Amino acid sequence: MLMDELNRQIYGCKKCRLWQGAKHGVPGEGPLNAKVMLIGQNPGADEDELGRPFVGRAGKFLTKTLAEYGIKREDIFITNIVKHVSPENRKPYSDEVAACLPYLITQISFIKPKIIVLLGASAKETPRIDGIEYIQVIHPSAAMRFTKMREKFRKQIAELAKRIKQN
Ligand code: URA
Repeated sequence: MLMDELNRQIYGCKKCRLWQGAKHGVPGEGPLNAKVMLIGQNPGADEDELGRPFVGRAGKFLTKTLAEYGIKREDIFITNIVKHVSPENRKPYSDEVAACLPYLITQISFIKPKIIVLLGASAKETPRIDGIEYIQVIHPSAAMRFTKMREKFRKQIAELAKRIKQN
């Protein structure tokens, strides 16, 4: 199966209830040969509007911080565990996560990244696959809001930049 076909399935997905309140599925974006994959929890209102991941305030902050450490957003495959926005941006329910996870697993198997960056709560739900290095990072929306978190987030992104250079 090609990524295009997978994306079509995600746009038309009705495996859980979330599609009903969403404008667009948000499959994710980035090069198919990306060394690094970045995984968030679920798209918010801005992402739903555009059908693209991490394009709202948190996404802009993430993109800017990555760039400050020499990491280009365009080099990374960015996605979420759950591919549709949730009502009031609530945390996705476990049955929604379970319904959506096969998409993420297929994306990982297509891209075969060296490093997977797990943002915030996605760390708990992402399956670990042998041979891939997992790096857990504070979610950018928390890092934006709290100074202490922001400092830690920067350190984590600096460390990520080092690991990418070594790969
Ligand atoms: N937060 C996420 O976890 N994912 C997005 O796509 C946007 C914000």
